[in-house]
Amino acid sequence: MTNNMENSGNKQKMQHRILFICLGNICRSPAAEGVMRRMVEQAGRTEDFYIDSAGIGNWHAGELPDRRMRRRGALRGYDFSSRARQFTPADFGRFDLICVMDRGNLHDIVKQQRCPSDAKKVVMLTDFLQRYRGTTEIPDPYYGDDADFDWALDLIEDACAQLLKNLTSE
Ligand code: 4NP
Repeated sequence: MTNNMENSGNKQKMQHRILFICLGNICRSPAAEGVMRRMVEQAGRTEDFYIDSAGIGNWHAGELPDRRMRRRGALRGYDFSSRARQFTPADFGRFDLICVMDRGNLHDIVKQQRCPSDAKKVVMLTDFLQRYRGTTEIPDPYYGDDADFDWALDLIEDACAQLLKNLTSE
């Protein structure tokens, strides 16, 4: 899965390069970026990962995450403070795993593939769910209330924990 090899002394190190995608890059994907980053830090594996997020659209480019997601995340100890940006096809070259939140995202990203191998990098984040296995999308909380933001965070935490396990047991 990893294609980014770095020489570190005598040891050849593989860095996992993960991009989280949602529609606006202000609710779900910056939360996934922040959750995954903290889990990686807590596992002592910061050097082994490069984590980012992006949106299908550019409506919120440059903005901090939605204040409701920042607030719900802060209650769990997260600081979501990335700046929104739009996905570009060049991201297929920069990342080896592209995790999308819903089927709309999947369609919108796969249709931008530059070659068939690009699409093989795209997965649903829900594929990694354990506790909430059977849930097939991380629903967009943008037009919802606190409970919708909390549900998105529950799913994101569940999936990111398993994603980290998979990548660190390779
Ligand atoms: P996200 O939520 O995809 O989880 O960041 C949304 C944020 C903004 C919009 C839609 C979804 N919007 O239409 O502006």
